Amino acid sequence: MRLIIINGPNLHNIGKREPEVYGNISLDDYFNNLKTFFHNMDLSFVNSHFESEIVSVLYDIENQVDGIILNAGAYSHTSVAIRDAISAISVPVVMVHISNVYARESFRNNNMIAPVCKGIITGFGVKSYKIAIQSFVD
Ligand code: DQA
Repeated sequence: MRLIIINGPNLHNIGKREPEVYGNISLDDYFNNLKTFFHNMDLSFVNSHFESEIVSVLYDIENQVDGIILNAGAYSHTSVAIRDAISAISVPVVMVHISNVYARESFRNNNMIAPVCKGIITGFGVKSYKIAIQSFVD
C-alpha cells in the first residue's frame, strides 16, 4: 500500500512550535519512527507552506497512491481550493490534526475541508498520523 502524508503551512517546525499545543517531537523524527513501524507500507511525506502547491500535489499524486493523509494546517479552516481539489480526485483523503481543533479557538471549529474527506482524526498529538495510517490498514 502506498500512502502520502501532506503537511501544510507551519508544520515543518513541530517540536519547536507551541510545544504545549503540538508536543516536543519533530515530525521528521516521528515520520522516521512511522516508516519503521509500518515497514511493509510505502510511505512518503511532503511539506508545503503554499496552498497552490498542495492543490498541485493532490492532482499529481492522485494516480500514484492508495490514500492521502492531509494536515492542511491553517488552510483546513479556509481553503475552498484544497477542498475542491479533494472533491475532484478519487483517492481517499484522511484529514489529520495534531491538536484537537474543536477544543481551541472558535475559528478552528470551522473546517472547510473535513466534509469532503473520508474521515478526520484530531487531537491525538503526532499519533494522529499513526491512527490515520492504521485507518487504511484495517
Ligand atoms: C493544526 C491545527 C490548525 O488549526 C493549525 O492552524 C495548524 C495545525 C493541527 O495539526 O493541530 O497549523 O492543523
